[in-house]
Formats: sequence, structure tokens, C-alpha cells
Amino acid sequence: MPLVLLVTLPSLLFAQTAKIKIDIQRTIGEIDPKKKRSFITIMKMKTINIILLFFLSIVGANAEDGHQLWLRNKKALPVTVVCSKNSPTLSIARQELQQGWQGKAGASVVLTIKNDKAIKGDGFRLSAVGITADTELGILYGVYELLRRQQTGETVNDEIVNPSYEIRILNHWDNLNGSIERGYAGPSIFWRKENPFVVTDSDRVIWRQYARANASIGINSAVLNNVNASQLILSADYLTRVKAIAEILRPYGVKTYLSIKFTSPALLGGLKTSDPMDPEVINWWRVKAKEIYSLIPDFGGFLVKASSEGQPGPQDYGRTHADGANMLADALKPYGGIIMWRAFVYSPNDKDRAKQAYNEFVPLDGKFRDNVIIQVKNGPIDFQPREPFSPLFGAMKKTPVMPEFQITQEYLGHSKHLVFLSTMWEECLQSDTYQQGKGSTVSRCTDGSIYPQKHTAIAGVANIGLDTNWCGHDFAQANWYAFGRLAWNNQLKSEQIAHEWIRMTFYADSLQSNNENVAADWNQNFLIPIKQMMLDSREAAVNYMMPLGLHHIFSMMQDHYGPGPWFAPPRMRPDWTPPYYHQADSNGIGFDRTKKGTDAVEQYHDPLASAFNDVSTCPEIYLLWFHHLAWNYKMKSGKSLWDEICYHYDRGVQQVRGFQKTWDKVKPYVDKERFTNVQRKLRTQTINAVVWKDACLLYFQQFSRMPIPDDIERPVNNLDDIIANDMTRRRPTN
Ligand code: GCU
Repeated sequence: MPLVLLVTLPSLLFAQTAKIKIDIQRTIGEIDPKKKRSFITIMKMKTINIILLFFLSIVGANAEDGHQLWLRNKKALPVTVVCSKNSPTLSIARQELQQGWQGKAGASVVLTIKNDKAIKGDGFRLSAVGITADTELGILYGVYELLRRQQTGETVNDEIVNPSYEIRILNHWDNLNGSIERGYAGPSIFWRKENPFVVTDSDRVIWRQYARANASIGINSAVLNNVNASQLILSADYLTRVKAIAEILRPYGVKTYLSIKFTSPALLGGLKTSDPMDPEVINWWRVKAKEIYSLIPDFGGFLVKASSEGQPGPQDYGRTHADGANMLADALKPYGGIIMWRAFVYSPNDKDRAKQAYNEFVPLDGKFRDNVIIQVKNGPIDFQPREPFSPLFGAMKKTPVMPEFQITQEYLGHSKHLVFLSTMWEECLQSDTYQQGKGSTVSRCTDGSIYPQKHTAIAGVANIGLDTNWCGHDFAQANWYAFGRLAWNNQLKSEQIAHEWIRMTFYADSLQSNNENVAADWNQNFLIPIKQMMLDSREAAVNYMMPLGLHHIFSMMQDHYGPGPWFAPPRMRPDWTPPYYHQADSNGIGFDRTKKGTDAVEQYHDPLASAFNDVSTCPEIYLLWFHHLAWNYKMKSGKSLWDEICYHYDRGVQQVRGFQKTWDKVKPYVDKERFTNVQRKLRTQTINAVVWKDACLLYFQQFSRMPIPDDIERPVNNLDDIIANDMTRRRPTN
């Protein structure tokens, strides 16, 4: 806070308070004695508000660059930590308690490692006086939970807290040259082009901070490189760097995994083939596994994108996904390693991309080794703003499947738009597949509740880079946080996650005085509106980008940022162009996936299949995903489909404008740096939401030939101009 303010503010405050006192006395003499009491109350509140403003001006004046995420320094109270064992992980646990204790001053916390049948994996038993766990990591997670409860003001009862999934993993799409595929927060924290094999002090610092942030939310694994992998990751030089990273991550319980290129035996090993049935190839992988485990004894395993989007794979040799996955699984088996085999497959000539993963993988159910897990994106296509859940979640009975969510906002406004993704993931996890009757949610189909699974896992494509605030947008940090929390507890509600994140990310030390008025004011005027904004933000993005089941109508298929429903360059494969997905013509709009169309509905269990198939029961949020409908089709609201589309786009724009107002109002509660950053981003988001709306309405209007309803704001951009300039020129760089 500038010195001049420090000196002048208290005197200003004093003068104001004195003035109010005089006002009170003067006026009280003049008013009816009955009204005196309420009048005094009002005037007192005025005084409190001024004091609050003073407090908040101090809060606001503290610059924060966002680097500390939700783990901001707190004024810790003294605590005694009792633990009979010692290890690197336990000393982190001890240190965290000492640095962050907000409970009773001088309290003792006992950390006990002992077997308890009720505790699963790295779960723990929590009480106000201690943590018991089977493992050291369980203790560490218990410590973070205890500190979180203290900070968010939640009670600590005697309770057992178990994780939903055994493996809670981040997938980094980081390339070895330091760039990040779909990364919007600067270069990689793991790899760089210059001096790629030198491990510097700042590397170690950032890796440690990264590991700590993950541990604090229960993330216990990380794939360090892009799924579009280079064979070089398995070279001796890169493996030495992986070892250095693994050593820093280990005490925080974060296991290291790598993405591999299926043709590494040929490309790196010089073999004639990479056929998974070839004995030399099998041997090459065995020797490589031995080398990796000699460097990194707790190495987690491989993530594999094979026979997918141009990546080589077993199908190049006439083999199946199971042949490829099993060969690798056998190589890692002696060391306890796991293969995460991705189901993100589609070929250019299929009539419906949405059906392909299911068609390829369901026949292979039961053919995989028990250390293989099939990694499935939440929707059948590709991380769109809204998709129904992938039918594969409800189809595999003898093969474990794991959800893959995308934390980085490839299709949701990059690091420029404020979109809290927790609600989207919650929607997927709580979707009922009906695999074993009602209640077979995606969460239960993947966490081992329905079929016993040797391993359970969940992956999130990371949004982390070298940017000071890690994620590009201050609010994108909430998505990293939410992924970790849902991976730990797949039944958590987004409302709770947002609440925790806001409390930890924005609550300031000066508010931690036990002053109820200060806390109530902060809750009322900051926490509640900001939480609402976050909870509404994904639906807003769906509204201004692709409502009512529309999907993949982005411009420039390489970029996935702005609108491009028209984008269809000659000779481009049709499933890489938006018209393939929206199918707009003079008769209507939408992809017919009913029994009369591609019959994708058939991949779902009843009653869902029938519900999706019938236009009158298909949820409107998925309407144009499953149906091609006339422009004048009558919606449940009584409006025509065309009008409803228009109102959704308009609502999306209005919602973002509303976020701007919400944010501007909370200015006194936020430090200047984060306030300004978010304010700028929201401006960009509004500008872009308007472009989305104008582009989509003007483009589709060419087919609907219907007017945009009168009460909707007129387009302010011309379609030809948007098409010519694309979004790239409308997009400020930050
Ligand atoms: C999307 C994304 C690619 C990525 C792919 C994948 O298509 O645009 O960059 O490689 O998903 O998940 O493998």
C-alpha cells in the first residue's frame, strides 16, 4: 500500500467517523424518539461500512500475481505435531501443518500410520486432533484436508475420507521443444528447447511447487509429455531428465508416467518393424521397461495414443488395440506398471464419428490384460462445450474404463474466457448409463462400484504452463483445483468445490480476524456472487458458442477458438469441418443420430436410447446432437427452434455482460493485479461472445431465412467480415 495512503487513510477514517457521530447527535435531537433506535443502528452500520472499506482497501492494495494458487501464505497459529516416524513425505506433512495451522493456537495434532480396514488406498481417518492412515501419503492428504477445512470454515468430525479413484492423473500435452499442444499458459514446466538436459534450480523450484499443488488436492500421478508423443522421450538423455523430475515429485506422492510413440522400436531402436507380435519388438519394450525402472523404480506406466488421428498403432500391422496394449502391458507387468490406452479413435470415412470408439472397443471387451485401462473422453466426439457422455462408459463390463476430462480450455475459450468446468464434469460423472439398471452413473461405472476393477483411474488434460499464474487466467486455476477434488471424490458438488476454491484463493489474512461483520460482508458481497458467476459460466459458454446440442462448429480446425460454422475448405476431410456436425440446410439443422439416421442412440442402454431417439423426450440440451429438425419445429417453450437458437445465443452474451458487472462490483475485495487481469479477460470474453452470436446467427439465418426476434440485440458484426478476418484479429493477446 502506498505510504501516503497509509498515513492519510486512518485520519480520513477518523474524520469520517467523527462526522457521523456529530450527525447522529445532531439528528437524534430532531427526530421522534421512537425512530431513534433504528436510526442509530443505520448510522452505526454506516460507520462499520467505512471501517470495512478501510480494511478492504488494505486487502485490495496487496498485489498478488496468482502464483500461489489456492495455497496462499496464511498467518499460521502455533501447533505441535506429534509423529513417531520420519520420512520426506512426513516432513512435508509436518511443515504444512506448521505453516498453515488455523485451528486452536497451541493445539496438538497426532499423525499415526496404522492399518485400518475402513481406510482405502491413500485415504485417511480425520479428527480434530489427528490423522490416521495406512500410508504416509494418506497422512499428507489428511493434513491438506484438515487445513482446507480450517480455511474454509468447515467442521471436522471424526470421519473416514477415501478417494474415489486409485490413480488421479494429469496428462500434460507438453512437447519436448517446450511448446504445449492446446496449452494457453506459456511454455512447458518440464521441457525446453535450449539446454534441454540441464536441470536448473528454478526447474526444481517450479516442479516442487507443482507437486505440492497437486498433492494438496489429491492428484497422485502425471504424464509428463504429449499424447502425440515423440520417440525421443525414451532416449537415455530424456529418461535422465524424467528421473530428475520424478525425484522432486516423489515425496509429494506424484508418480511419473510417460506417453509413448507406438513405433519407437523402429524409430528409436532401429528395428525393421514395430509390429506388436514381432519377438524383437516385444523384447525391445522389455529391455526399455527394465531401463526405465532402473532409473525410476516407482514409474507409473505408459499413456498410449495409437491408431488415432494419424498416430501409428497396432492397426498399421493388422493387429488390434488389445494386441498392442497387451504387449506393452506385459513389458511393464513385472514392475507393477500400467497402460492407459486411449479410445480416442475415428476414421475419415465413417458416417458418424460419434459411434466409432464404441464400435472399435466394445468387441475387445475382456481381451485386455488386467494392467490395461481404457481412457475415454467424457463425450463421444472431442471435449466439446457440451456432449452427452460417451456410451463406452456404460458398455465395457470386463475392461476397466477411466474418464478423460480436458482441463485446458481447448474448446471453451482458451485461457481468455472464464469458464468453470466443474459443472461440466459433474454433469458427466452423474449421467446415468443404466449399465446395471438405474443409478449406474458414469462415476460408478469407472470407480469400481459396479464391476470389481484391479485399477481405477481418472485423467485430466492439464492447463499448466510457465505463466506466473500457472494457468493463464486466474479463474482457470479453479479448473485444476476442481479436477483434483472430483478425482478424489467423484460425488462432490461443483457448488462446494467453487466455495472452497474461492475461500482459499481470495480470502485475505486481514479478513481472518474473528470479526463477524467483516466475514459476513465478504460472504455476501464477494463469495456468493463470485460463486454464482462460476457456476453459471459453463452454461453461458454453451449458450454463446453452441447451444441445444450443436457441436464442433469452431473456425480453423487448428485453433478451436472462434466460430466457424462455414469452415469447409476443399479437400478437407469432412469430419474436420463444422458442416459435417451441424448439417444446416434449408430444411433444418442438427445431426440425425436417431434410428432413422446413424442410429448412434443404439449405443446407449434403454431407457436412454429411446429417450434420445424420440424428439419429444430427448433433453433439449442434446436436441441437435441427436436430431435434425425443421427451423420452425416447436420447442417446449412454444417458440420455434430458430427463435430458441437466437435466444440462447443472446442469453449467452447477456450472461457474460452480467459477469463483467459482478466482477466490477467486487473490486474492493480483490487485489489490484488479479482484479485488473480478470476484468480485461472478461472484456475480451464479451467481445468474443458477441462475435460468436453474430457469426452463428447470421450464418444459420442464410438457411432458416427467418428474422432474428425483435427483442434481441441486432448483430453488430457482418458475416463476411467475420469470415474474412476470423477471430484471430479480434483477439487481444492477453
Ligand atoms: C483433439 C485435439 C488434439 C489432440 C487430440 C487428442 O483433437 O485437438 O490436439 O491431440 O484431441 O486428444 O489426442
